[in-house]
Amino acid sequence: MRAVAVAELKAPPQLIDAPRPAPGRNEVLVKVEAAGLNPLDWRIADGMLDGTVPHEFPLIMGVDFAGRVEEAGPGVTRFAVEDAVYGQRLSSPVGSGTYAEYVVVPQDAPIAKAPDSVPLATSAGAPTAGMTALEIIDAAGLREYESLLVVGAAGGVGTFLTQLAAAHDLRVLAATRGHDQRRMGTYGAALAIDVQEHPLAERVRDEYPDGVDALVDLASGPEEFGSHAELVRNGGVALSTLRAADKDAVYARTVEAINFAHTSTPEVLEKLAAEIDSGRVIVPITTEVPLDQAPDAVARSKAGDARGKTVILA
Ligand SMILES: NC(=O)c1ccc[n+]([C@@H]2O[C@H](COP(=O)([O-])OP(=O)(O)OC[C@H]3O[C@@H](n4cnc5c(N)ncnc54)[C@H](OP(=O)(O)O)[C@@H]3O)[C@@H](O)[C@H]2O)c1
Repeated sequence: MRAVAVAELKAPPQLIDAPRPAPGRNEVLVKVEAAGLNPLDWRIADGMLDGTVPHEFPLIMGVDFAGRVEEAGPGVTRFAVEDAVYGQRLSSPVGSGTYAEYVVVPQDAPIAKAPDSVPLATSAGAPTAGMTALEIIDAAGLREYESLLVVGAAGGVGTFLTQLAAAHDLRVLAATRGHDQRRMGTYGAALAIDVQEHPLAERVRDEYPDGVDALVDLASGPEEFGSHAELVRNGGVALSTLRAADKDAVYARTVEAINFAHTSTPEVLEKLAAEIDSGRVIVPITTEVPLDQAPDAVARSKAGDARGKTVILA
């Protein structure tokens, strides 16, 4: 089968010919229709999990997928051949990823029936970013609040989170790099702030002199996160997806500081499919590329300028 892999950690991704995998006990073989691209893909290929989980090479990249069950191994009860499924393949060993024509996934991994209302290739853009956004709503207790500042709002997690938060009646201030008012407005943001044109602190203080209720920061290191956390009112919450929150910092005396790590379960995926099918959440696909162009798409993701989601068609 065709796949996109790295020969060693930090090597450039390349199109390769790899053996088609076979499902073992409690595993399904999925014929991949599309893989969703996440920054996690190239972070893993650059060694993020080195030393913590076994790796195999060539390391086929990719975590998110959507496709149809081609074969079910012995013991599989959750799925049948031809089921349309989507999910996240993050099982050990690392290296049997989703930038490929086929992928084997344990049935107890985060895999679920794909949403009915969108094409399978669109579903491939949803698992990691959508589950992360859903879990952040609970982890930060966002339903209790009225205003939310999202930094890095234009990317994958940010567009899902903006939609989900707006659906829960939060007023979302979307901090982006570039002019995104119209696009973020369609996702329900009350205001998009181009951080390259306006000092973020000034714009937020104009709107909320006493601070916003909640901050979700998807883009900043510890120093910048600290200045963004200063924009949260006393008793509010500030969450980082990049482990940038410091519980010993001054801001953590007045604001709940959270370093978020997503867990991913079949149940969260099922909930995400229901949100998509209800029409409350649009899967924000902005780019579709064929498998042989995945290396260029990865390079673009590394360079920045992510707008919504990219999917790689197998
Ligand atoms: N902890 C967890 O469990 C977890 C789960 C999922 C994701 N993550 C991490 O969370 C981050 C976001 O994920 P993602 O999938 O949404 O990534 P993404 O699709 O690459 O989006 C990131 C967005 O942040 C923007 N951005 C970067 N710096 C900014 C700044 N200073 N101000 C405003 N916007 C800025 C980027 O804009 P430009 O493209 O213009 O730079 C891009 O639109 C990634 O680093 C990812 O690895 C963590």
